[in-house]
Amino acid sequence: TTLSPFHNEPFTDFKDADTKRGMLEALAQVRSELGATYDLIIGGQQRRSGTTFTSVNPARPAEVIGVHSAATEADANDAVSAAQQAFLSWKRTSVTERVALLQRAAELIRNRHLTFCAWLTLEVGKNWAEADADVGECIDFLEFYAREALRLDSATTPIQFPGERNLLRYIPLGAGAVIPPWNFPFAIMAGMTAAAIVCGNTVVLKPSPDAPTIAARFVALLSEAGLPDGVVNLVQGGPEVGRAIVEHPQIRFIAFTGSKKVGLEIHERAARTQPGQHFIKRTILELGGKDSIVVDSDSDIDAAVDGVVASAFGFSGQKCSACSRVIVASSVYDVFCDRLRERVSALATGDPAENFATGPVINSVAHKRVLDYIQLGQTEGRLLAGGKSLEIEGGYYIAPTVISDVAPTSRLAQEEIFGPLLAVIRAKDFDDALAIANNTEYGLTGAIYTNSREKLNRARDEFHVGNLYLNRKCTGAMVGAHPFGGFNMSGTDSKAGGPDYLTLFTQAKSIAEKM
Ligand code: SER
Repeated sequence: TTLSPFHNEPFTDFKDADTKRGMLEALAQVRSELGATYDLIIGGQQRRSGTTFTSVNPARPAEVIGVHSAATEADANDAVSAAQQAFLSWKRTSVTERVALLQRAAELIRNRHLTFCAWLTLEVGKNWAEADADVGECIDFLEFYAREALRLDSATTPIQFPGERNLLRYIPLGAGAVIPPWNFPFAIMAGMTAAAIVCGNTVVLKPSPDAPTIAARFVALLSEAGLPDGVVNLVQGGPEVGRAIVEHPQIRFIAFTGSKKVGLEIHERAARTQPGQHFIKRTILELGGKDSIVVDSDSDIDAAVDGVVASAFGFSGQKCSACSRVIVASSVYDVFCDRLRERVSALATGDPAENFATGPVINSVAHKRVLDYIQLGQTEGRLLAGGKSLEIEGGYYIAPTVISDVAPTSRLAQEEIFGPLLAVIRAKDFDDALAIANNTEYGLTGAIYTNSREKLNRARDEFHVGNLYLNRKCTGAMVGAHPFGGFNMSGTDSKAGGPDYLTLFTQAKSIAEKM
């Protein structure tokens, strides 16, 4: 099989009148489907546990998006058994069959693009462009991994040993856990799942309890695309059910995207060998960030302000890639702060369904956490913009906030906050700026704005992050172009959307035949 070359899904132009009408219709359509009950899916069977939990719209918490069964430990165990059972046949399917499955799923999503955007808007509070990017990235992952699976399947040994026929086959690992985050609840959830299954593995998918509905709809879509029962099993719930899956002796790998705290806990639990376990579990971890943008004295200040605002406040800063620290050269510090304050104060915050620039944070816990950091920030620095909770329809809104004059080692400069809160740090000179940029335990994304070729070169060599951007924003990695994943406490540098990603879901078998 050869497929057409990969292309990123184009962004949707919501300025187009028909498209805008289409999005409003999709929102109305999805609103008419809110509040439905979703079951667990284990071995293709729908299962209802005794207890349920609800997913609500963070912009209007009174609006219930979906009611979901909360899986018990017994459900989790059954899901692993179902995945284990399905592995016996799924691993024998041809790569072309698995690739075709991903492409059929991509096509179904393409046909319902705006509907999925609307689900994202209502379940996690993404405005239209953010929702569109999530849906586009989801399709990209499916199409990209389809092509990567074919490439991996045709891989061979670097050389042929004289007198032998040498082969290298990338074979699947087994039944694994996929534990995605709520902030890219479509793209990352589907991307990790697709990578696993296209290599011949089977999956127990445990979505975030903040975004269970998108995942349930994706699993239903996979089955519509023809995925056999048991290849992807859906269990919903919180940390307890996650732990039961991670510790299960038959779970061969765990693909997780989320916080550092939970990621390290998964890593530790996965390292402990359970009775009856016959392999060393593999973890594929994408964790947090404390991402910096450096603004050099010799830079286009307006472009830098644009990039910082987009990176810090897109989806209200709820991205591991978000800029949460801007490190500004002393000579341009004051003018940068003035323009930044102006731009941030002008951001309109409101209901993502009405497509405001910034919206709510995900839930009441996040709302409190960010407000606590804002309070702390005012003891560690100076409030430049925002700084308060906003009362709109009971939603979890916080005004986009900037704290300036923050010391490089203060908590605000070191801890991941995951919300609309940006710290501004003054650097003495370029060397100081680079040193500050590298002073956290993380290493996910970073950007630098400068017109100096020499400084760009130095940043390329010395700015220690998995995704470095020169003279552009540090969010919005594109599948294929920007393989995504970080250094240090940001994870295992497993580059999603890159050429090495699928190998993480396989093991290589070398076969030598004497001729
Ligand atoms: N891939 C996203 C970005 O680059 C973050 O998960 O913004």
